[in-house]
Amino acid sequence: MKAAPPLPPAVIVWSGKGGVGKSTIAAQTARGLAAIGVRTGYLDADLHGPSAATLFGIEERLAVRGRRIVPAVRDEVEIASTSLIADPDHAYVWRGPLMRGVLSQLLQDTDWTRADVLVVDMPPGTGEIQMQILSELTCLGAVVVTTPQDLSLADVRRSARMLLDADVPVTAVVENMASVACPSCAFSFPPLPGDAGQHVHAIFPEAAFVRLPMSPLTGHSDPLAQALRPLVEKIADRLQQRPLSPC
Ligand SMILES: Nc1ncnc2c1ncn2[C@@H]1O[C@H](COP(=O)(O)OP(=O)(O)OP(=O)(O)O)[C@@H](O)[C@H]1O
Ligand SMILES: [Mg+2]
Repeated sequence: MKAAPPLPPAVIVWSGKGGVGKSTIAAQTARGLAAIGVRTGYLDADLHGPSAATLFGIEERLAVRGRRIVPAVRDEVEIASTSLIADPDHAYVWRGPLMRGVLSQLLQDTDWTRADVLVVDMPPGTGEIQMQILSELTCLGAVVVTTPQDLSLADVRRSARMLLDADVPVTAVVENMASVACPSCAFSFPPLPGDAGQHVHAIFPEAAFVRLPMSPLTGHSDPLAQALRPLVEKIADRLQQRPLSPC
């Protein structure tokens, strides 16, 4: 049997905190990369709360050809997620060894035939999945996501430690939901209290600092896509530089 090709290097979208916009940002980053011609894959590493089917509007299940998983393709992005395998109406209960096996299969047994980079949507927390991703992938960089509030800061700081300990290069710190545009005037204002983004950026001063607005989230013309463009270009530039270190 032919050996599987090596996995593409990864951009991991990371935050210890839940609900801060990791999946939204991961999907927009993947679309943005594909839109500028980078061959992109998307791994949904959130096995318990996968969002890829919803974010990319996919209803079909993943096909298997030979012993390999064929990723779904949307917006020129190859996508693998447990939301494209399991029954969407059942809770996803993966226990320890099974969870590791499922993630390994999604990663290693998917035919990433058109991907030069893998955008990885991480679950919240600092547990086994995070450890596994850091050990199984080569890291192009991490995108650390927070919202402005202090409550995010505590969790994101803890998870930042994990990236520092693993020597993962951080490409950008993203403060999501940092502003809202007034629909009837030219001003924008902060909808949430706090400046967690700046505090997280102080941990990774060499990373870019991106502040994202609240947005109606309407696909490519979305303000998020525009605000993420410099990050997308930075990832594309980084992809030209070799060699890469393990995550
Ligand atoms: N900039 C934004 N503007 C408006 N809504 C947003 C924005 N970012 C995220 N959201 C919304 O906030 C909610 C949480 O976003 P998302 O699912 O991407 O977060 P997450 O960090 O991946 O969550 P989880 O930890 O549960 O995986 C979603 O309803 C999403 O549509
Ligand atoms: Mg998510």
